[in-house]
Amino acid sequence: MTSTLARASIAASPPKNVTPSTRGPATAIAPRTRTHLPTHLRPADLLRITDQGVADVLDGRHDTLLPAEWDTTHRWSTRLYADDDLDLWLISWTPGEATELHDHAGSLGALTVLSGSLREYHWTGDDLAVRVLDAGDQAAFPLGWVHDVVNNPTVEVTGPTLSVHAYSPPLTAMSYYEVADAGHLRRTRTVLTDEPE
Ligand SMILES: [Fe+2]
Repeated sequence: MTSTLARASIAASPPKNVTPSTRGPATAIAPRTRTHLPTHLRPADLLRITDQGVADVLDGRHDTLLPAEWDTTHRWSTRLYADDDLDLWLISWTPGEATELHDHAGSLGALTVLSGSLREYHWTGDDLAVRVLDAGDQAAFPLGWVHDVVNNPTVEVTGPTLSVHAYSPPLTAMSYYEVADAGHLRRTRTVLTDEPE
């Protein structure tokens, strides 16, 4: 579970959206570069990495990072992995604690729910849409994604609600928002941070 593995996977994948050269031989095919993205990792890579992160936690590979007892009133998080391209977090969710509407600045993101159930509210452009993410469910967050994540209060679970999150490039900032009366988002503040939610 490293971004080196992710890079190897990308290198092994056939290029998509290729554009044939008009001057060279038929074999001179250059893949279209994704210069509009700040990372070579795709949302699909982040989804796979968070899925592997869940498996690693369940297999006990991060046991030394876990608390002796889960706090049932306050959220908790720990960084599972970090390099120049990626950071990976395990986050616990407790009833009644929301994250506020936020984005992830210049980072793409993804999560896999490890246990319990989450509700995600995300801004569609003129309203908030909600989706439930149960254990095993995944979600990806493209650039510009504004959302709020909460413990799902309608699902009773034993044990903590946990999810594994990946960000690429690693988080450096988050902006927070409120829904204004006119049905648009108003940014309330921007915080430099390398810690999610
Ligand atoms: Fe988030």
